[in-house]
Amino acid sequence: MSVPRRRFPGARRARVVVGSALPIDVAERLPACDVVAPASGVMAQHALDAAVADADAVICLLQHRIDDAFLARAPHLGVVANNAVGHDNVDVPAASARGVLVANTPEVLTDATADLAFALLLATARRLGEGEALLRQGRWHGFDPAELLGAELSGRRLGLVGFGRIGRAVAARARGFGLRILYAAPHPAPAAVEAELGATRVELPALLASSDFVSLHCALTPATRGLIDAAALARMRPHAILINTARGAVVDEAALAAALHAGQLGGAGLDVFVDEPRVTPALLTAPRTTLLPHIGSATVAARTRMAELCVAAVAGWLEDRRPTNLVNPELWPPAT
Ligand code: GLV
Repeated sequence: MSVPRRRFPGARRARVVVGSALPIDVAERLPACDVVAPASGVMAQHALDAAVADADAVICLLQHRIDDAFLARAPHLGVVANNAVGHDNVDVPAASARGVLVANTPEVLTDATADLAFALLLATARRLGEGEALLRQGRWHGFDPAELLGAELSGRRLGLVGFGRIGRAVAARARGFGLRILYAAPHPAPAAVEAELGATRVELPALLASSDFVSLHCALTPATRGLIDAAALARMRPHAILINTARGAVVDEAALAAALHAGQLGGAGLDVFVDEPRVTPALLTAPRTTLLPHIGSATVAARTRMAELCVAAVAGWLEDRRPTNLVNPELWPPAT
């Protein structure tokens, strides 16, 4: 049964809880609100749980768990603005059932994340981490024609798992490097997009079996959790490189580490992990592996625009204007 969306009653200052310091001054942008935010860093879950009790709006991060128990603590809460495009940390049906809007930050981080996926691909293919460590540790003895040989991109196949905004932005970059592009996605992209990007849709097993590089760009959902498991990794070519800038839990990390240690895979470039900030220890020692601390969207421009989108969603709800980036639009369908 659908419930109406909660509305801000007015006649008092709204209380906005922000789960981290942001690159913009939220209090300055919401002068009619009492803003609770840490001066620096990120609020722990228990602090956010406590702060939400009398909140009207929350701006949270992807590591904050916004489940039904959290929502039950917040009888006045009308909007959750998740400062991320992925929203697997939010129980959206539970929010909808309580009339709470959920917003995310699409589009503004597409280029930053696609750039980082490509940086990981190049860094892993050309063994940049190993080369830098060699030099910094004083182990470089001069040019050696047999040292640190990596893989070339031109003429090889890149398989994109997920072909939404970020997957397509990676494809656009890949074209410039002479890569041939396959993608696997639940629905075909429009023919014009496929033609522009030179991308061909195939089933996932075929993509895994024929790609030299596989890059993940799907949301974490029940269907994609553990999608790249031991069986999927076994389908990949022995020299293939796996790139993950989506969500850690799309990959079975233990199986990936085992495949890398066994030399069953050419390498991996990972920006996301199942249980951040913990990294499966066997990945830390795996060969040909580039590991980054979840910085896909970490550019000044992207992080500023993400924060601005969150503030806009909160301001919109408070002023009874429909936020554009709703994840549960059923609570507030667009005007026709
Ligand atoms: C980052 O991982 C995001 O989903 O925005």
